[in-house]
Amino acid sequence: MILNKVTDLIGNTPMLAFPIPGKNATLLIKIEKNNPGGSIKDRMARNMIVAALKSGRLKPGGIVVESSSGNTGIGLAIAAIEFGLHFIAVVDHHAAQDKIAVMRALGAEIRYVEGDYREDEVAVVERQRLAAEIASQLPGAVFMNQSDNVANAGAYFDFVREVISEIDGGIDAYVGCVGTGGSMTGIAQGLKLHNPRTKTIAVEPAGSIIFGQPGHPYYQSGTGTPKGDTVGLVLDYSCIDIGVQVTDSQAFETARYIAQRTGLLVGGSTGGVIYKALEFLHAGLIDGNIVIAVADGGEKYLHTVFNESWLKERNLLDPEIWEKLDEWFGQESSNEVPRAVPRLFLAERGVSGHERVGSAS
Ligand SMILES: Cc1ncc(COP(=O)(O)O)c(C=O)c1O
Repeated sequence: MILNKVTDLIGNTPMLAFPIPGKNATLLIKIEKNNPGGSIKDRMARNMIVAALKSGRLKPGGIVVESSSGNTGIGLAIAAIEFGLHFIAVVDHHAAQDKIAVMRALGAEIRYVEGDYREDEVAVVERQRLAAEIASQLPGAVFMNQSDNVANAGAYFDFVREVISEIDGGIDAYVGCVGTGGSMTGIAQGLKLHNPRTKTIAVEPAGSIIFGQPGHPYYQSGTGTPKGDTVGLVLDYSCIDIGVQVTDSQAFETARYIAQRTGLLVGGSTGGVIYKALEFLHAGLIDGNIVIAVADGGEKYLHTVFNESWLKERNLLDPEIWEKLDEWFGQESSNEVPRAVPRLFLAERGVSGHERVGSAS
């Protein structure tokens, strides 16, 4: 198919099936990192701009301002180009440097929050305050405010339509991460509308306050709501069956494991979701067709999640998580952790990629 503009590349992402040995279960992994900005957030970024233009709040040639840890900003930078808008991203030092570099490359103006924030401290509150202030002072500027913007959750109905049409036999569970809660809300609402029995599990980092646990710093990027911040209005708790936490080690070790065993590079928040999906599956709480989205790719975290020295310095390496994952994926555990030679656990079973995709039962 030949497309006319970069934003036409948003959506219709491919899906990978990982059948789980010994279980009546398949992880169906929607590769949202294949969106042009490399994340699931391209969907909502463009949708928020379209909604603001349609309502007249944003005028052609106007300015879009947003506080972003990176992925929403990258999506907004791409959509701003489509509509001839200027984009100002307000970031803090917690954001992955590579994501900021991408926004810059796409012509975005970057403003850092002022003040002394430790590396593991998320300055979301100040970021949002500054973004609102910048928007209020510049003529023609609009603060997108993704955490409270209904066009955020509303962007994911296409995702739901795509997975429903691609998966034979229905969707038994969706396991996703929560930051603003936009993707979880849009996807969970859509899936439950189609089949109220679909289980929805939301995963936040340990240290995030969305599900009432005490807040403390965490390293997972883009996901969760840190202490001091308020949970966004866009998050609809009523469509979430279970809210759970995942530690930085569980999330990052799973991302590293999936990279070395399958060749798929996923970011830390997706690592956390895969870990929890497997834990729930092996606890007998979910089975069947379990949908997961690759919120973004590991390519964005080569200096952190995929850098052993960075992990070691922060005490985030944990070989026991590899043993657990081997057990869950039906692999014989190896004494060398991680294994030097990547192994494709799907290919070993002699199942070709084409047979797997779309033939989940
Ligand atoms: C890598 C990553 N994971 C998860 C999320 C959370 O998504 P949502 O804001 O839809 O809850 C984000 C949001 O920016 C993200 O960038």
